[in-house]
This record gives sequence, structure tokens and C-alpha cells, in this order.
Amino acid sequence: MRGKFITFEGIDGAGKSTHVEWAAALLRQRLPAGATLLTTREPGGTPLGETLRDILLHRPMHLETEALLMFAARREHIAQVIEPALSRGDWVVSDRFTDASFAYQGGGRGLSRAKLEVLEQWVQEGLQPDLTLLFDVPLEVARERLAAARQPDKFEAESAAFFERTRAEYLRRAEESGGRIRVIDSTRSVDKIRAELEEILASA
Ligand code: ADP
Ligand code: TYD
Repeated sequence: MRGKFITFEGIDGAGKSTHVEWAAALLRQRLPAGATLLTTREPGGTPLGETLRDILLHRPMHLETEALLMFAARREHIAQVIEPALSRGDWVVSDRFTDASFAYQGGGRGLSRAKLEVLEQWVQEGLQPDLTLLFDVPLEVARERLAAARQPDKFEAESAAFFERTRAEYLRRAEESGGRIRVIDSTRSVDKIRAELEEILASA
């Protein structure tokens, strides 16, 4: 049986990375016999992808170059890691996937949805996450959390307007996703969020 593909999304500072390994440990307790679960991330997830991540997070570039490199890293990630795992029956949990390209390069930077859809079709050939958890917070909350947590990378240094557009595009996609994208109110405490995640993941 084919494995499940679960992705985590949200604007920077929403709190998604706080839950990835915890959710993976929860899911591992109830995998089908013989299956394993791996956690991975985008951009990244392969040696080449991690090199592209370093470039993407630190070097200025044309917005289409940025989109193309995101999808180049994704192509490698799908070929080397995601698709082989799912075909073996293993489960994959990824910290970000294509919804981030629509939200950041599309919503944030203004690249047309049509161009992103071409890349999505080319690179994914129909592959979609089975479930996406979208960690949602107002911008001010994300900013406060980030300021306390780390030095900003290229994206995290973007304007408030950029993140408003990015968040809005995530929420728009969630509405149109037919239930694939579950919006998690991430302003709550870590414990409250985990209680909801337990419920959602119980039926994953
Ligand atoms: P993301 O991966 O979405 O960028 P992180 O998980 O790295 O965000 O969280 C950003 C910061 O916010 C971290 O310092 C983290 O400890 C803190 N944080 C995460 N979730 C919560 C929460 N529910 N309440 C308060 N602080 C949180
Ligand atoms: P992330 O791993 O969440 O950063 P951090 O480890 O600092 O929490 O994501 C890296 C950045 O890349 C994030 O700002 C969002 C951005 N990104 C895109 O712009 N497009 C994409 O397709 C992906 C996957 C990420």
C-alpha cells in the first residue's frame, strides 16, 4: 500500500517547525506494519536541495529564478526521497512543500498562479500531499516570535505587506483545497495546538 504524504505550512514564525518532530513521533506509533516514517524539509531534503536552499535563503535573485530553483530542488526531492518512500509504503512528513511556492512566490512576490501551476504539473506529475497542516497566526504574532527566536534570513527580512499577501494566499488555498489543507489556529499554546493535531492525525 502506498504511504501517506503530510506537509506543514505557514508564514515564518507561525510555529510549524515546533510541531514537526512531535507529530512524526505520534504518527510512528500507528504506522501500518513494516512501514517507516521520515521527516524532511523544503527547500532541501537532498544534498543538492540543501545547496539550493543555502542559495535561495541568502542570495538576491529574480523572482522567476527563485521559483525555478524552488521547483528544481523539489524535483530532486521528489525523485530521490518522496516518491521512492511513498511507493515503498513509507510515510513522509515534510516541513513545507508546494503550497509555500504559491504563498511566497505567488502571493508574496506576485508571480502568476498560471506559471506556478505549469511548474507544479511539470515537477509533480499529479503528486499532492494527502494532508497539509497550515499553521496560521496574524503577522504581528509571527514577527514577535521570530524576533525572539533567530536572525532573519532573506525571506524573514521581507516587509509586513509581503507576509500579509503570503498569509492571505495560504488561506485562500486552504479554502479551495477541498479539505486537504487544515488551518490550525497557531496563536494558542503549544499544548492546545497539539491536542487538536492529535485529533486530526488520528484520522490521517
Ligand atoms: P516556524 O517554523 O513556523 O517558522 P517555529 O516553530 O520555529 O516557527 O517557531 C518560532 C518561534 O515561536 C520559536 O521560538 C518557538 O519556540 C515559538 N513558538 C512556536 N509555537 C509557539 C506557540 N504556540 N506559542 C508561543 N510560542 C511559540
Ligand atoms: P523554513 O524552512 O520554514 O525556514 P526556517 O528554517 O527559517 O523556519 O523555510 C525557508 C524559507 O523558504 C521560508 O521563508 C519560506 C521559503 N520558501 C519559499 O519561498 N518557497 C517555497 O516553495 C518553499 C518550500 C519555501
